[in-house]
Amino acid sequence: ASYNLLLLPGDGIGPEVMAGVETVLAALRETGIARFETETDLVGGAAIDRHGKPLADETLERAKAADAILLGAVGGPKWNGVAYDIRPEAGLLRLRKDLALFANLRPAICYPALADASALKRELVEGLDIMIVRELTGGVYFGEPKEITVQADGSKRAVDTQVYTTGEIERIAHVAFDLARKRSGRVASAEKNNVMKSGVLWKEVVTQVHAEHYADVALEHVLADNCAMQLVRRPKQFDVLVTDNLFGDVLSDVAAMLTGSLGMLPSASLGAAGDGGMRRALYEPVHGSAPDIAGADKANPIAMIGSLAMCLRYSFGLGEAADLLDGAITDTLAAGTRTADIAADGAGAVGTKAMAEAIAAA
Ligand code: NAI
Ligand code: MG
Repeated sequence: ASYNLLLLPGDGIGPEVMAGVETVLAALRETGIARFETETDLVGGAAIDRHGKPLADETLERAKAADAILLGAVGGPKWNGVAYDIRPEAGLLRLRKDLALFANLRPAICYPALADASALKRELVEGLDIMIVRELTGGVYFGEPKEITVQADGSKRAVDTQVYTTGEIERIAHVAFDLARKRSGRVASAEKNNVMKSGVLWKEVVTQVHAEHYADVALEHVLADNCAMQLVRRPKQFDVLVTDNLFGDVLSDVAAMLTGSLGMLPSASLGAAGDGGMRRALYEPVHGSAPDIAGADKANPIAMIGSLAMCLRYSFGLGEAADLLDGAITDTLAAGTRTADIAADGAGAVGTKAMAEAIAAA
Protein backbone atom coordinates (compact mmCIF):
# COMPACT_ATOMS: atom_id res chain seq x y z
CA ALA A 1 0.00 0.00 0.00
CA SER A 2 0.99 3.62 -0.45
CA TYR A 3 0.16 6.49 1.89
CA ASN A 4 0.31 10.28 1.46
CA LEU A 5 1.44 12.26 4.47
CA LEU A 6 1.24 16.04 4.69
CA LEU A 7 4.03 17.33 6.94
CA LEU A 8 3.43 20.71 8.56
CA PRO A 9 6.56 21.39 10.64
CA GLY A 10 5.48 24.87 11.78
CA ASP A 11 7.62 27.01 14.06
CA GLY A 12 10.36 26.86 16.71
CA ILE A 13 11.40 23.27 17.37
CA GLY A 14 8.65 22.06 14.98
CA PRO A 15 11.00 21.71 11.97
CA GLU A 16 13.66 20.00 14.13
CA VAL A 17 11.34 17.32 15.51
CA MET A 18 9.73 16.90 12.06
CA ALA A 19 13.18 16.16 10.64
CA GLY A 20 13.20 13.28 13.15
CA VAL A 21 10.02 11.97 11.54
CA GLU A 22 11.71 12.03 8.12
CA THR A 23 14.68 10.11 9.53
CA VAL A 24 12.36 7.45 10.93
CA LEU A 25 10.25 7.32 7.75
CA ALA A 26 13.41 6.61 5.74
CA ALA A 27 14.12 3.63 8.01
CA LEU A 28 10.50 2.43 7.77
CA ARG A 29 10.63 2.58 3.97
CA GLU A 30 13.65 0.27 4.06
CA THR A 31 11.59 -2.37 5.86
CA GLY A 32 9.24 -2.49 2.87
CA ILE A 33 6.18 -2.31 5.17
CA ALA A 34 4.48 0.25 2.94
CA ARG A 35 5.20 3.18 0.66
CA PHE A 36 5.11 6.59 2.31
CA GLU A 37 4.92 9.72 0.15
CA THR A 38 5.36 13.07 1.88
CA GLU A 39 4.59 16.67 1.02
CA THR A 40 5.69 19.56 3.22
CA ASP A 41 3.87 22.86 3.69
CA LEU A 42 3.72 25.87 6.00
CA VAL A 43 1.55 26.48 9.06
CA GLY A 44 1.56 28.99 11.92
CA GLY A 45 4.12 31.77 12.05
CA ALA A 46 5.99 30.36 9.06
CA ALA A 47 2.78 30.69 6.98
CA ILE A 48 2.14 34.21 8.32
CA ASP A 49 5.60 35.25 7.13
CA ARG A 50 4.91 33.84 3.64
CA HIS A 51 1.17 34.33 3.09
CA GLY A 52 0.07 36.84 5.74
CA LYS A 53 -2.13 34.21 7.41
CA PRO A 54 -1.41 31.09 9.48
CA LEU A 55 -3.03 28.58 7.09
CA ALA A 56 -3.23 29.26 3.36
CA ASP A 57 -6.29 27.98 1.48
CA GLU A 58 -4.14 25.75 -0.70
CA THR A 59 -2.57 24.22 2.43
CA LEU A 60 -6.05 23.43 3.76
CA GLU A 61 -6.90 21.77 0.43
CA ARG A 62 -3.73 19.68 0.64
CA ALA A 63 -4.66 18.73 4.20
CA LYS A 64 -8.07 17.54 3.03
CA ALA A 65 -6.51 15.48 0.23
CA ALA A 66 -3.80 13.84 2.38
CA ASP A 67 -4.24 10.43 4.02
CA ALA A 68 -2.99 11.97 7.27
CA ILE A 69 -1.38 15.15 8.57
CA LEU A 70 1.61 15.41 10.88
CA LEU A 71 2.07 18.78 12.58
CA GLY A 72 5.08 19.99 14.58
CA ALA A 73 4.15 23.06 16.62
CA VAL A 74 3.10 26.64 15.98
CA GLY A 75 3.79 30.02 17.57
CA GLY A 76 6.59 31.99 19.16
CA PRO A 77 7.49 35.46 20.38
CA LYS A 78 8.07 36.72 16.83
CA TRP A 79 4.29 36.65 16.16
CA ASN A 80 3.04 37.84 19.56
CA GLY A 81 1.95 41.14 18.06
CA VAL A 82 -0.19 39.84 15.16
CA ALA A 83 -3.98 40.23 15.20
CA TYR A 84 -5.93 37.62 17.19
CA ASP A 85 -7.63 35.95 14.24
CA ILE A 86 -4.43 35.52 12.24
CA ARG A 87 -2.19 34.45 15.14
CA PRO A 88 -0.25 31.20 14.60
CA GLU A 89 -2.63 29.12 16.76
CA ALA A 90 -5.53 30.16 14.50
CA GLY A 91 -3.98 28.02 11.74
CA LEU A 92 -4.14 24.92 13.93
CA LEU A 93 -7.68 25.73 15.09
CA ARG A 94 -8.80 26.15 11.48
CA LEU A 95 -7.37 22.74 10.59
CA ARG A 96 -9.16 21.09 13.51
CA LYS A 97 -12.43 22.85 12.71
CA ASP A 98 -12.47 22.49 8.92
CA LEU A 99 -11.47 18.83 9.11
CA ALA A 100 -14.06 18.29 11.92
CA LEU A 101 -11.53 16.49 14.13
CA PHE A 102 -13.87 15.62 17.01
CA ALA A 103 -11.85 12.91 18.78
CA ASN A 104 -8.63 13.81 20.55
CA LEU A 105 -6.55 10.81 21.62
CA ARG A 106 -3.88 11.47 24.20
CA PRO A 107 -1.95 8.47 25.45
CA ALA A 108 -0.16 8.76 28.78
CA ILE A 109 2.60 6.18 28.73
CA CYS A 110 5.24 5.86 31.41
CA TYR A 111 8.34 4.15 30.07
CA PRO A 112 10.05 2.06 32.77
CA ALA A 113 13.34 3.82 31.98
CA LEU A 114 11.75 7.20 32.84
CA ALA A 115 9.53 6.26 35.78
CA ASP A 116 11.64 8.30 38.20
CA ALA A 117 10.85 11.48 36.22
CA SER A 118 7.12 11.10 36.97
CA ALA A 119 5.30 13.33 39.44
CA LEU A 120 4.31 10.10 41.24
CA LYS A 121 6.26 7.28 42.86
CA ARG A 122 7.77 4.72 40.48
CA GLU A 123 5.55 1.83 41.62
CA LEU A 124 2.40 3.84 40.86
CA VAL A 125 3.38 4.70 37.27
CA GLU A 126 5.86 2.12 35.98
CA GLY A 127 4.29 0.52 32.90
CA LEU A 128 1.38 3.00 32.91
CA ASP A 129 -0.44 3.06 29.56
CA ILE A 130 -3.67 5.10 29.54
CA MET A 131 -5.52 6.40 26.48
CA ILE A 132 -7.57 9.52 27.11
CA VAL A 133 -10.24 10.10 24.49
CA ARG A 134 -11.37 13.72 24.69
CA GLU A 135 -14.33 15.14 22.73
CA LEU A 136 -12.78 18.09 20.89
CA THR A 137 -15.37 20.03 18.89
CA GLY A 138 -18.35 20.37 21.26
CA GLY A 139 -19.16 21.24 24.85
CA VAL A 140 -18.61 24.40 26.82
CA TYR A 141 -15.77 25.74 24.64
CA PHE A 142 -18.16 26.13 21.71
CA GLY A 143 -21.75 26.29 23.11
CA GLU A 144 -23.89 29.42 22.61
CA PRO A 145 -24.61 31.81 24.24
CA LYS A 146 -21.04 32.66 25.12
CA GLU A 147 -20.72 36.25 26.30
CA ILE A 148 -19.89 38.83 28.93
CA THR A 149 -22.66 41.37 29.50
CA VAL A 150 -22.84 44.44 31.73
CA GLN A 151 -25.61 44.41 34.33
CA ALA A 152 -27.81 47.35 35.33
CA ASP A 153 -25.58 47.98 38.38
CA GLY A 154 -22.47 48.07 36.20
CA SER A 155 -21.15 44.70 37.30
CA LYS A 156 -20.54 42.06 34.66
CA ARG A 157 -22.01 38.66 33.96
CA ALA A 158 -20.15 35.95 32.04
CA VAL A 159 -21.90 33.02 30.34
CA ASP A 160 -20.50 29.86 28.78
CA THR A 161 -22.88 27.15 27.67
CA GLN A 162 -22.29 23.40 27.74
CA VAL A 163 -24.12 21.73 24.85
CA TYR A 164 -23.95 18.07 23.82
CA THR A 165 -26.20 16.19 21.43
CA THR A 166 -26.84 12.45 21.22
CA GLY A 167 -24.90 12.27 17.94
CA GLU A 168 -21.84 14.02 19.33
CA ILE A 169 -21.70 11.65 22.30
CA GLU A 170 -22.38 8.55 20.21
CA ARG A 171 -19.51 9.13 17.81
CA ILE A 172 -16.92 9.76 20.54
CA ALA A 173 -18.20 6.71 22.45
CA HIS A 174 -17.66 4.56 19.34
CA VAL A 175 -14.07 5.80 19.05
CA ALA A 176 -13.41 4.90 22.70
CA PHE A 177 -15.00 1.44 22.56
CA ASP A 178 -13.26 0.57 19.27
CA LEU A 179 -9.92 1.53 20.82
CA ALA A 180 -10.64 -0.51 23.96
CA ARG A 181 -11.23 -3.62 21.84
CA LYS A 182 -7.67 -3.31 20.53
CA ARG A 183 -6.29 -2.70 24.03
CA SER A 184 -7.33 -4.16 27.40
CA GLY A 185 -11.07 -4.14 26.69
CA ARG A 186 -11.91 -1.59 29.39
CA VAL A 187 -13.50 1.87 29.11
CA ALA A 188 -14.11 4.40 31.89
CA SER A 189 -16.45 7.28 31.03
CA ALA A 190 -16.12 10.47 33.07
CA GLU A 191 -18.85 13.13 33.49
CA LYS A 192 -20.78 14.82 36.27
CA ASN A 193 -24.32 13.49 35.97
CA ASN A 194 -24.88 14.42 39.61
CA VAL A 195 -24.90 18.16 38.80
CA MET A 196 -25.03 18.57 35.00
CA LYS A 197 -27.76 17.71 32.47
CA SER A 198 -25.07 17.19 29.82
CA GLY A 199 -23.58 14.63 32.21
CA VAL A 200 -26.93 12.83 32.48
CA LEU A 201 -27.18 12.61 28.68
CA TRP A 202 -23.49 11.64 28.36
CA LYS A 203 -23.92 8.70 30.73
CA GLU A 204 -27.20 7.64 29.10
CA VAL A 205 -25.81 7.66 25.54
CA VAL A 206 -22.51 5.96 26.44
CA THR A 207 -24.49 3.26 28.29
CA GLN A 208 -26.72 2.73 25.26
CA VAL A 209 -23.87 2.58 22.70
CA HIS A 210 -22.16 0.07 24.98
CA ALA A 211 -25.25 -2.14 25.36
CA GLU A 212 -26.04 -2.12 21.64
CA HIS A 213 -22.56 -2.63 20.16
CA TYR A 214 -19.86 -3.41 22.70
CA ALA A 215 -21.10 -5.98 25.22
CA ASP A 216 -17.59 -7.52 25.09
CA VAL A 217 -16.01 -4.33 26.48
CA ALA A 218 -16.12 -3.54 30.22
CA LEU A 219 -17.66 -0.10 30.91
CA GLU A 220 -17.34 1.86 34.13
CA HIS A 221 -18.82 5.31 34.84
CA VAL A 222 -16.83 7.68 37.03
CA LEU A 223 -17.54 11.21 38.20
CA ALA A 224 -14.96 13.56 36.68
CA ASP A 225 -13.73 14.98 39.99
CA ASN A 226 -13.28 11.50 41.43
CA CYS A 227 -11.52 10.56 38.19
CA ALA A 228 -8.96 13.34 38.73
CA MET A 229 -8.31 11.96 42.21
CA GLN A 230 -8.05 8.36 40.99
CA LEU A 231 -5.59 9.37 38.25
CA VAL A 232 -3.20 10.57 40.93
CA ARG A 233 -4.03 7.90 43.51
CA ARG A 234 -3.94 4.72 41.41
CA PRO A 235 -3.56 5.62 37.69
CA LYS A 236 -3.02 2.08 36.42
CA GLN A 237 -6.68 1.22 37.13
CA PHE A 238 -7.58 3.01 33.87
CA ASP A 239 -7.13 1.94 30.27
CA VAL A 240 -9.33 3.94 27.87
CA LEU A 241 -10.85 7.02 29.49
CA VAL A 242 -13.53 8.86 27.49
CA THR A 243 -14.75 12.30 28.48
CA ASP A 244 -16.00 15.65 27.23
CA ASN A 245 -14.00 18.61 25.97
CA LEU A 246 -13.56 20.50 29.26
CA PHE A 247 -12.97 17.54 31.57
CA GLY A 248 -10.72 16.00 28.90
CA ASP A 249 -8.59 19.14 28.76
CA VAL A 250 -7.99 18.99 32.51
CA LEU A 251 -7.72 15.22 32.96
CA SER A 252 -5.27 14.81 30.06
CA ASP A 253 -2.98 17.45 31.57
CA VAL A 254 -3.10 15.61 34.90
CA ALA A 255 -2.25 12.36 33.12
CA ALA A 256 0.60 14.10 31.27
CA MET A 257 2.36 14.81 34.55
CA LEU A 258 2.39 11.10 35.38
CA THR A 259 4.69 10.34 32.46
CA GLY A 260 7.85 12.42 32.85
CA SER A 261 8.34 15.01 30.13
CA LEU A 262 6.26 17.11 27.77
CA GLY A 263 8.72 16.05 25.09
CA MET A 264 7.38 12.47 25.31
CA LEU A 265 3.66 12.97 24.65
CA PRO A 266 2.08 12.35 21.23
CA SER A 267 -1.55 12.95 20.25
CA ALA A 268 -4.05 12.22 17.52
CA SER A 269 -7.13 14.16 16.47
CA LEU A 270 -9.57 12.10 14.42
CA GLY A 271 -12.56 13.08 12.30
CA ALA A 272 -15.25 11.20 10.48
CA ALA A 273 -14.41 8.81 7.64
CA GLY A 274 -13.61 10.72 4.44
CA ASP A 275 -14.28 9.85 0.80
CA GLY A 276 -11.80 6.98 0.68
CA GLY A 277 -13.16 5.46 3.90
CA MET A 278 -10.10 6.60 5.86
CA ARG A 279 -10.71 8.97 8.77
CA ARG A 280 -9.50 12.55 8.52
CA ALA A 281 -6.69 12.73 11.03
CA LEU A 282 -4.02 15.06 12.40
CA TYR A 283 -1.14 13.86 14.57
CA GLU A 284 0.94 16.22 16.69
CA PRO A 285 3.03 16.33 19.84
CA VAL A 286 1.32 17.81 22.90
CA HIS A 287 4.15 20.30 23.43
CA GLY A 288 4.49 23.72 21.78
CA SER A 289 7.24 25.36 19.74
CA ALA A 290 9.64 25.71 22.72
CA PRO A 291 11.28 28.98 21.59
CA ASP A 292 13.71 28.74 24.52
CA ILE A 293 15.51 25.79 22.89
CA ALA A 294 14.60 26.28 19.20
CA GLY A 295 17.43 25.87 16.69
CA ALA A 296 19.77 24.37 19.28
CA ASP A 297 19.34 20.65 18.46
CA LYS A 298 18.08 20.14 22.03
CA ALA A 299 14.41 19.22 21.51
CA ASN A 300 13.21 15.73 22.31
CA PRO A 301 11.73 14.30 19.08
CA ILE A 302 9.95 11.37 20.78
CA ALA A 303 6.54 13.09 21.09
CA MET A 304 6.67 13.81 17.34
CA ILE A 305 7.94 10.35 16.39
CA GLY A 306 5.33 8.79 18.73
CA SER A 307 2.72 10.81 16.82
CA LEU A 308 3.91 9.10 13.62
CA ALA A 309 3.48 5.73 15.38
CA MET A 310 -0.11 6.69 16.22
CA CYS A 311 -0.64 7.64 12.58
CA LEU A 312 0.58 4.23 11.40
CA ARG A 313 -1.74 2.52 13.88
CA TYR A 314 -4.92 4.60 13.67
CA SER A 315 -4.93 5.97 10.13
CA PHE A 316 -3.18 3.25 8.17
CA GLY A 317 -3.99 0.15 10.24
CA LEU A 318 -0.27 -0.70 10.30
CA GLY A 319 -0.31 -2.06 13.85
CA GLU A 320 2.86 -4.09 13.43
CA ALA A 321 4.82 -1.13 12.06
CA ALA A 322 3.51 1.00 14.93
CA ASP A 323 4.57 -1.67 17.45
CA LEU A 324 7.99 -1.75 15.78
CA LEU A 325 8.37 2.01 16.13
CA ASP A 326 7.05 2.12 19.72
CA GLY A 327 9.43 -0.74 20.52
CA ALA A 328 12.33 1.18 19.01
CA ILE A 329 11.52 4.15 21.28
CA THR A 330 11.32 1.90 24.36
CA ASP A 331 14.60 0.15 23.45
CA THR A 332 16.40 3.42 22.74
CA LEU A 333 15.38 4.76 26.15
CA ALA A 334 16.25 1.48 27.86
CA ALA A 335 19.72 1.68 26.28
CA GLY A 336 20.18 4.97 28.14
CA THR A 337 19.94 7.39 25.20
CA ARG A 338 18.46 10.64 26.53
CA THR A 339 17.79 14.14 25.30
CA ALA A 340 18.44 16.86 27.90
CA ASP A 341 14.79 17.11 29.06
CA ILE A 342 14.79 13.48 30.22
CA ALA A 343 18.43 13.09 31.28
CA ALA A 344 18.78 12.84 35.04
CA ASP A 345 21.26 15.73 35.31
CA GLY A 346 21.59 16.83 31.69
CA ALA A 347 24.96 15.13 31.48
CA GLY A 348 25.62 12.85 28.53
CA ALA A 349 22.49 14.02 26.75
CA VAL A 350 22.24 13.66 22.98
CA GLY A 351 20.65 16.11 20.54
CA THR A 352 17.44 15.93 18.52
CA LYS A 353 19.16 14.47 15.46
CA ALA A 354 21.09 11.82 17.36
CA MET A 355 17.96 10.70 19.23
CA ALA A 356 15.99 10.34 15.97
CA GLU A 357 18.88 8.44 14.38
CA ALA A 358 19.12 6.09 17.37
CA ILE A 359 15.39 5.33 17.13
CA ALA A 360 15.64 4.81 13.36
CA ALA A 361 18.58 2.44 13.85
CA ALA A 362 16.69 0.51 16.55
P1 NAI B 1 6.13 24.63 25.09
O1 NAI B 1 5.49 23.30 25.11
O2 NAI B 1 6.58 25.14 23.78
O3 NAI B 1 7.36 24.64 26.10
C1 NAI B 1 7.22 24.45 27.51
C2 NAI B 1 8.58 24.00 28.10
O4 NAI B 1 8.80 22.64 27.72
C3 NAI B 1 9.76 24.79 27.56
O5 NAI B 1 10.71 24.93 28.57
C4 NAI B 1 10.30 23.91 26.44
O6 NAI B 1 11.68 24.09 26.22
C5 NAI B 1 9.98 22.52 26.96
N1 NAI B 1 9.71 21.60 25.84
C6 NAI B 1 8.62 21.58 25.05
N2 NAI B 1 8.73 20.63 24.11
C7 NAI B 1 9.93 20.05 24.30
C8 NAI B 1 10.63 19.00 23.63
N3 NAI B 1 10.12 18.36 22.57
N4 NAI B 1 11.86 18.67 24.09
C9 NAI B 1 12.39 19.28 25.15
N5 NAI B 1 11.78 20.27 25.82
C10 NAI B 1 10.56 20.66 25.40
O7 NAI B 1 5.05 25.63 25.72
P2 NAI B 1 5.14 27.23 25.91
O8 NAI B 1 6.54 27.64 26.25
O9 NAI B 1 4.05 27.56 26.81
O10 NAI B 1 4.78 27.84 24.49
C11 NAI B 1 5.74 28.20 23.51
C12 NAI B 1 5.04 28.55 22.22
O11 NAI B 1 4.39 27.37 21.71
C13 NAI B 1 3.94 29.60 22.37
O12 NAI B 1 3.96 30.44 21.25
C14 NAI B 1 2.67 28.77 22.42
O13 NAI B 1 1.56 29.50 21.96
C15 NAI B 1 3.01 27.65 21.47
N6 NAI B 1 2.26 26.41 21.69
C16 NAI B 1 1.89 25.72 20.58
C17 NAI B 1 1.23 24.51 20.70
C18 NAI B 1 0.91 23.77 19.46
O14 NAI B 1 1.46 24.06 18.40
N7 NAI B 1 0.06 22.78 19.52
C19 NAI B 1 0.87 23.95 22.01
C20 NAI B 1 1.38 24.72 23.12
C21 NAI B 1 2.02 25.92 22.95
MG1 MG C 1 -4.82 21.92 28.01
